[in-house]
Amino acid sequence: MTTAHHETDHTRMNDFPRFPPGFVFGAATAAYQIEGAAREDGRGPSIWDTYSHTPGRVANGDTGDVACDHYHRYPEDVALLRDLGVGSYRFSVAWPRIVPDGSGPVNPKGLDFYSRLVDELLAAGVEPAVTLYHWDLPQALEDRGGWRVRETAERFAEYAAVVADRLGDRVPRWITLNEPWCSAFLGYSVGRHAPGAQEGRGALAAAHHLLVAHGLAVQALRAAGVREAGITLNLDHHLPATDSDADRAAVVRADTLHNLVWTEPILAGRYPDTEQETWGELITGLDVRRDGDLELIAQPLDFLGVNYYRPIVVADAPHRESDPALRVATDNRYTEVPMPGVRRTAMGWPVAPGTLTDLLVDLGQQYGDALPPVHITENGSAEDDEAGPDGAVHDTDRVTYLRDHLTALRAAIDAGVDVRGYYVWSLLDNFEWAFGYAKRFGIVRVDYATQRRVPKDSYHWYRRLIAAQRA
Ligand code: NOJ
Repeated sequence: MTTAHHETDHTRMNDFPRFPPGFVFGAATAAYQIEGAAREDGRGPSIWDTYSHTPGRVANGDTGDVACDHYHRYPEDVALLRDLGVGSYRFSVAWPRIVPDGSGPVNPKGLDFYSRLVDELLAAGVEPAVTLYHWDLPQALEDRGGWRVRETAERFAEYAAVVADRLGDRVPRWITLNEPWCSAFLGYSVGRHAPGAQEGRGALAAAHHLLVAHGLAVQALRAAGVREAGITLNLDHHLPATDSDADRAAVVRADTLHNLVWTEPILAGRYPDTEQETWGELITGLDVRRDGDLELIAQPLDFLGVNYYRPIVVADAPHRESDPALRVATDNRYTEVPMPGVRRTAMGWPVAPGTLTDLLVDLGQQYGDALPPVHITENGSAEDDEAGPDGAVHDTDRVTYLRDHLTALRAAIDAGVDVRGYYVWSLLDNFEWAFGYAKRFGIVRVDYATQRRVPKDSYHWYRRLIAAQRA
């Protein structure tokens, strides 16, 4: 890199996108990825404990047993949030800490932990935003059928009521589910997430029961009188590899199984009219839908959470796998092809920030007034960070990623989409599911051997961006 280039870049780094007054800047994490203390204070086992302890499932044999030890170090982590100047912190409550056996007695020590965390946040001037389900299903419920069965949705609503009853007076923003696509399809079709099942119809049943769980939990949150209730979806922006009819039809199938399966019932109260073309007899034969479910699922929301990381370029293709289970989610007569001419993150994900603008503008056009205000509940990048002897990380690529996505978000607001907030993923390096600790998304580095936290350049950059909004 030449000096001249470096200087230009440096100037641009301090040229912060500006957001409307009241726009919320935040940072996000999830329980299993950071807490550790997996067997403490009465926490029961979850499907991720089982999965990560099964040899061969997670890279390097990593588990969430210790993770970032946030369960014990939360005051230090809240201090990091306070110094960052964020208005909101999105974290998840571990269901197995609250209801260790999935049903039956509530564990008071679990509730106490989150109550302490909430108080610590409020004292630091940071508003808590709670996700009720970020993938750690109590193992006892999986043993009784998991998301394949409706009972799990009913138990979820009971758990939601318990948490809202305890924290509802202090937590303004509530997210029922995080990325139900991953729970249903990575969990029950592809098998790359817990519980690691590979079933065709089981995954579609799981998707429906997650939608029902969302609807029942919204009712529970309303009954507890919370201020804002919503859901977080990982909406994908699909682009056709070419202009051919076949590739464009592949985009419709990809959109159906990633996005429309959630947005149509939740925002429009209907099942996608492309589901038959996408799933064929698997969806025709699905017998888990009941009268009244769509009304339950389509209750008005105060916001829609959107997690966004990368676009997906798809091309028409015959089935690659012989296993029909896998065809439900990833092999639906299309294939993902590389996006030419763009950088890739350490996850191998193409960096194309403008697609965030496109996704949001399309969503606004698709749903109009039925689209509630949007919060970007996750955005960020895993990079191969190199730490200096003092732990410092000059993560220029991450800074550029964040800056360009925030600029793209600002463009969506200018185009008329009502976006109210943005949460960077993630506050800390953490357990990246099947990738274990090898992938680092944090704006704060965690040295897992010592649990030392060192803010990266991206943390300092984000702090300046937030401060600049007030200038
Ligand atoms: C989505 C998930 O919600 C989160 O848990 C994960 O770590 C990030 N994306 C990055 O993959």
